[in-house]
Amino acid sequence: MKRLDVHALVSDGVKGALIGIGISAVFMLISIGFPTSVLNWIFLIGFGLGIGFLLTVGNELVGIVIQYFFPVLKKWRLFNCFLTFPVSTVLFYLIFSLFYCWIPFRERLTYSMGAGIASTMVGLFFIYAQEKEERIRLEQENRRLAVLEERHRIARELHDSVSQNLFGISLHLNTFEYLRKQNPEAFRKSVRQLREMVTETQVEMGLLVYELRPVVMEKGFYEALESLSGLYRARYRLSITTCFKGNEENLKGGVQTALYRVTQEALNNIVKHAKARFVQVEMEIGPQGNGILLIRDDGQGFDKEESSRKICYGLRGMKERVSELNGEVKINSVKGKGTTVTVFF
Ligand SMILES: Nc1ncnc2c1ncn2[C@@H]1O[C@H](COP(=O)(O)OP(=O)(O)O)[C@@H](O)[C@H]1O
Ligand SMILES: [Mg+2]
Repeated sequence: MKRLDVHALVSDGVKGALIGIGISAVFMLISIGFPTSVLNWIFLIGFGLGIGFLLTVGNELVGIVIQYFFPVLKKWRLFNCFLTFPVSTVLFYLIFSLFYCWIPFRERLTYSMGAGIASTMVGLFFIYAQEKEERIRLEQENRRLAVLEERHRIARELHDSVSQNLFGISLHLNTFEYLRKQNPEAFRKSVRQLREMVTETQVEMGLLVYELRPVVMEKGFYEALESLSGLYRARYRLSITTCFKGNEENLKGGVQTALYRVTQEALNNIVKHAKARFVQVEMEIGPQGNGILLIRDDGQGFDKEESSRKICYGLRGMKERVSELNGEVKINSVKGKGTTVTVFF
């Protein structure tokens, strides 16, 4: 049975009582004209308050009982409102019969039905008010969810741009001490690369704030992928081959950014986890902007079951990005035989 919330019932009753004064005033005006005596005013207000309160509470209680026997009616919010008509008619008829027994039966019935209609209107008002409240609540909920989603997206962007670069910087720093003593030339080169990475991170950070695309994308999509691969070749001594087919201009900006980020994450995973020597980055774009991106390494591979137990942002973010484009990521990894990340978009 619908829980009886006494507090809500009384508060609805009070609202109903106030509206009851309105109904009562209309009745007075129709039946005896503008109330001139103080007594009439007291009667108008008292009658309105009482009947409004009683009607609202009565309707609610009858609604609860009926919904108990016919639970299907719970979903039908207008039901309570239509119920108001018979309940009010009967209630008014009883009151008229009790206090105004000299009024003929037909008139009593007409007044009661009129009161029923007025009460139904009040009921409709309540439904409208409730729906408005519900709508406001839903809007607030939606706003809260949108904020959460945005935070999630920013976390992913930070992972994909800034933390990837910070990871590269820390790798460089690890070899510094050794290089400085053993190979001053390589040391200088490493310092230069570090500077570039720091500048790039700063730019990425700035762009993230302004919601722009990765800085290298300004040159064109394939060129951006090529220079990304070049970076990994130089920094991590990976042998990376690239092969791009199809017109890059068929891809929308958002798709380009997502695919760039996916490639970046896949290459970072290769550096971080794969211990690979050879990497292939291949891409084919169809005339409708659909296509396939593939990043394959010959590294140590991994067990997907094991990795799904870890809390990692990389692969998850990759999948989310691609599913936002209505695409799909397939990760194929065999221990000892390498990993292939395939993106269908
Ligand atoms: N190319 C790869 N070669 C070997 N292992 C990989 C490769 N890509 C991903 N992994 C494994 O999958 C896990 C999850 O990757 P990811 O979600 O990117 O998180 P993270 O790189 O932060 O650890 C990694 O910890 C690693 O064990
Ligand atoms: Mg990763």
